[in-house]
Amino acid sequence: MTYTFLQPFTFKNGSTLKNRILMAPMTTSSSTPEGDVTEEELIYYLVRSSGPGAVITACAYIASEGQAFPNGMSVAKDTHIDGLKKLAQTIKMQGAKAILQIYHGGRMSQREYNGGRQPISPSSIRAERKWADTPKELTEAGIHILISQFGSAVKRAIDAGFDGVELHGANTYLLQQFVSPHSNQRQDDWGGTLYNRLRFPVEVVKQCQSIIKEHASDDFLLGYRFSPEEIETPGIRLEDTYALIDALIAEHIDYLHLSVSYYYQPSLVGFREYKIQIPQQISQHIAGRVTLVGVGAIKTSKDAEKALLYSDLVSVGKQLIIEPKWVQKIEDNKENTLNTVLNISKPFDYYLPENLWKTIKHVPNWFPIKEE
Ligand SMILES: Cc1cc2nc3c(=O)[nH]c(=O)nc-3n(C[C@H](O)[C@H](O)[C@H](O)COP(=O)(O)O)c2cc1C
Repeated sequence: MTYTFLQPFTFKNGSTLKNRILMAPMTTSSSTPEGDVTEEELIYYLVRSSGPGAVITACAYIASEGQAFPNGMSVAKDTHIDGLKKLAQTIKMQGAKAILQIYHGGRMSQREYNGGRQPISPSSIRAERKWADTPKELTEAGIHILISQFGSAVKRAIDAGFDGVELHGANTYLLQQFVSPHSNQRQDDWGGTLYNRLRFPVEVVKQCQSIIKEHASDDFLLGYRFSPEEIETPGIRLEDTYALIDALIAEHIDYLHLSVSYYYQPSLVGFREYKIQIPQQISQHIAGRVTLVGVGAIKTSKDAEKALLYSDLVSVGKQLIIEPKWVQKIEDNKENTLNTVLNISKPFDYYLPENLWKTIKHVPNWFPIKEE
């Protein structure tokens, strides 16, 4: 059987993937307390990197006060480059492109993990989460420091040998906080109007592009992940997202990566106005102007093919945790042997870092689980 998702794909900048499946970025909370890559993480990536065309890593924080998880991976200092080099090599040796996802948690950072510091955000507005702290409003100087920190993180990713970087502009973290009318109520050039709310992501992309131009080869990829909507009011709606997409295309972003939990996801907030599924609407808006990566609950070859009706590439998350050889088994016509459920009696079968294994076991209804 020949599937579209098994065909190679070439980006406009010339970078070629051997197929159209990407491993979705997934935090494992398994780096050292200082943020260095561990052996457990290398093994986790080693067994999952021989199938997909590209592997996007867990998000790495660009500055220590931006940590939103325990034992996150860091790209905040040069001392992390050695570990990141091992990670890039591990992925690339298996035949996949290695893409480092980078982020700053902004108001979603927690004192528990970020050295006890008050989180920062465009405005001093708490996230609607029980545990969230009231963030400190960023100064103009603070904003410029952050832009340069994103650029330095990209330089480290280049030095470590990655093939690309994905800016994590989704899942309520700092980049998204600037776009959102909920978290960004600034009255200066960095907030207020939609145009001003887009300024920070645009300046970050410009800074990253200039570092890439100076230090990387022409086929180095810069992607951007975004959440198309927010449930808060006020919050990001499709019109804001369309403007963000247009601004990123104008800055020559190499790809956009949706962050939704289902590749046919309906709107979270506008069932009446938005009759068509969100990925389809985004795809119609983009109209082939940039590479789009779809995502969400892709479990079978049929799912991947359907998701490709509204995207050029697809990323697979949980299914690659449950079945590290997902791509190879489909390539070998052995789809009927795919594992679809995590057997929690067999922790050593999956090569998962211990902290990830513990989290999966303790969060109800997140992964399909069996015990035998
Ligand atoms: C354990 C785990 C960790 C995740 N960490 C990240 C992350 O670091 N960055 C990110 O953009 N998305 C993260 N996600 C979301 C996934 O990239 C993906 O969008 C989501 O799981 C839906 O795809 P799936 O149904 O194929 O798993 C995470 C998901 C899981 C299951």
